[in-house]
Amino acid sequence: MTDRYCVFGHPVAHSKSPAIHAAFAEQTGEAIEYTAIEAPLDGFAGAWRRFTAEGGRGANVTVPFKEEAFRLCDTLSQRARRAGAVNTLALGDNGLTYGDTTDGIGLVRDLQRHGVALAGARILVLGAGGAVRGILEPLLAAGPKSLCVANRTAVKACALAADFADLGEIEGGGFDAVSGPFDLVINGTSASLAGDLPPLPDDLFAPGATAHDMMYGAEPTVFLRWAEAHGARTVDGLGMLVEQAAESFFQWHGVRPATAPVLERLRQAL
Ligand code: ATR
Repeated sequence: MTDRYCVFGHPVAHSKSPAIHAAFAEQTGEAIEYTAIEAPLDGFAGAWRRFTAEGGRGANVTVPFKEEAFRLCDTLSQRARRAGAVNTLALGDNGLTYGDTTDGIGLVRDLQRHGVALAGARILVLGAGGAVRGILEPLLAAGPKSLCVANRTAVKACALAADFADLGEIEGGGFDAVSGPFDLVINGTSASLAGDLPPLPDDLFAPGATAHDMMYGAEPTVFLRWAEAHGARTVDGLGMLVEQAAESFFQWHGVRPATAPVLERLRQAL
């Protein structure tokens, strides 16, 4: 029987995950079905239970259910526990639900693919919401020289930095406290959605620096346009999306798909 997987979201029709997982399955010869399911806003746990009762083996979880998915898991990866959210669910043979988050490792893999050195780097992360919480552990594990978290609401960045302080050199503050230069600046705010640019100093980037936006679209985000104009190399979030999917695929099937051809195909279709 074909194993069933899906992505849960609300809304979810826009999700690229079914296309990505279909491409991975074709490439690796795994027989899987992967669909998109819009769970009711007040009924995520029930949707997961129904799915597994009907033969579902695993799922990706996207907005707004990542924290709720975290709460229903029987066991969690260490990085999911830190993130307080999961984007990957797997049903064990014992019937228990295992949760992991692959967003952060997806980001790190994509940066590595672009040749960005993280060890010893001075890193600035903009934002202090769920998306940023999900990437801090893998970033700190890569051994940066320093990691600053800056947010419109400064206290949230300070609290987040305190939560991860046992893992490395990390500090939090408001945008007004940002003082470069940085080798890598990651925009994890949702400001790009509104076409907003966080207020940042002109001398933010060190020579050869990279700017990454966790968002993506047919056109560069306002942050990436600003970063390019200030001399940084730019990377958008499409590669992170494909890499997190590849890590979920690996968790479920034990096979690592090649990401570059899938990313290329998605890029052309944007
Ligand atoms: P997500 O799950 O995408 O992280 P979130 O938890 O709602 O969503 O967090 C959104 C982040 O984007 C927050 O850091 C938010 O800043 P505040 O904590 O001050 O609200 C940030 N953000 C949203 N819109 C922004 C804007 N126009 N300018 C700067 N930061 C913005």
